[in-house]
Amino acid sequence: MIKLPELKIGNLIAKLPIIQGGMGVGISMAGLASAVANEGGIGVISSVGLGSANDTKAKNHWESNKIALREEIRKAKKLTKGIIGVNIMMALTDYAELVKISLEEADIVFIGAGLPLRLPKNISFDFVKSVKAKIVPIVSSARAAKIIFKSWEKNYSHIPDAVVVEGPLAGGHLGFKQSQIDDPAYKLENLIPEVVSAIKPFIQKFAKKIPVIAAGGIFNGVDIHKFLNLGADGVQLGTRFVATHECDADIKFKNEYIRAKKEDIVIIKSPVGLPGRAVFNKFLSDVEQGIKKPFKCDWQCLKTCNFRTTLYCIAQALLNSKIGKLSDGFSFAGANAYRIDKIISVKELMDTLVAEYEKVAFLVNQNPALATNNL
Ligand SMILES: Cc1cc2nc3c(=O)[nH]c(=O)nc-3n(C[C@H](O)[C@H](O)[C@H](O)COP(=O)(O)O)c2cc1C
Repeated sequence: MIKLPELKIGNLIAKLPIIQGGMGVGISMAGLASAVANEGGIGVISSVGLGSANDTKAKNHWESNKIALREEIRKAKKLTKGIIGVNIMMALTDYAELVKISLEEADIVFIGAGLPLRLPKNISFDFVKSVKAKIVPIVSSARAAKIIFKSWEKNYSHIPDAVVVEGPLAGGHLGFKQSQIDDPAYKLENLIPEVVSAIKPFIQKFAKKIPVIAAGGIFNGVDIHKFLNLGADGVQLGTRFVATHECDADIKFKNEYIRAKKEDIVIIKSPVGLPGRAVFNKFLSDVEQGIKKPFKCDWQCLKTCNFRTTLYCIAQALLNSKIGKLSDGFSFAGANAYRIDKIISVKELMDTLVAEYEKVAFLVNQNPALATNNL
């Protein structure tokens, strides 16, 4: 039998090379992250808007976010002995503070929605060396990976511990221009070998293994086999983990995936300034027609949001959907969300992914002509 290999990120060892991607607002919190970690994967808490997710009437959002994030990581750590990460978007106005807390409390910090060329000003490299936590940027191209690694080499004589490569089929905000999303040149199948070769010189120079993690559209064990074959060391899944009992979103959010047909999964222009993938609904239809959804912005949570011109508050819309108020929000979802037909447990999902992987690995081993690379 060919077993799914473990994932080593420095001295962190995940029994399974499966990472549950961070999902905000409040979609992946301690409940989901600890369930994934308990099954041998890496569970990731999304740091965005946790203060508001826990306390919808919070007055000082920055302060309540900091408190809530620390509490959430500690809560997850109580529920598992496995690996707990935090996902932080650079576009957040409290990015630097959230990184600091996560480095203090979690095992691994994933940084997306921007290129982390340097550490935030409040964090010294000595501090990073003094904590156990790993730092992993999320990129959408080999060029971005190279720029980050070069900058770290120059500034710190050090490189990140791993890299997540998120392709255009992912859910949530995408690091691509609208025109690139359907362009085959940007397919994850092409990005993975490109990133692997872009970071090779750094791996050699620093004599350090840097795992490459593939994300975006990975649905089953056959997909996992394909991306490991293409040079990835692990995979990150979002959509499949939404459709689990343990996912921290309201059942109405999860049911959006079951309701969705292929044509309901759409690309939207998000107030963040990036395209995003979501399940189309009445709220998004209203926005498309230019109908403004009144809101009051009392703390600009995103550096890139122009709250004076945007038609709606994305943080509020996502928070509404998290708590099941889909009439005032919408569900982010990956391109394959329409393939979800039931909600299962994290254990069932992980066991299925492993079994599918082992089956296809066995078959390909018997008959290499069945290679999954071109599927
Ligand atoms: C509901 C939802 C919310 C997400 N929120 C975030 C987020 O806050 N930050 C982030 O870096 N990625 C976010 N993502 C992306 C996931 O972490 C993951 O990389 C991606 O969904 C993988 O693609 P898949 O959904 O096809 O498996 C989100 C995805 C979904 C489906």
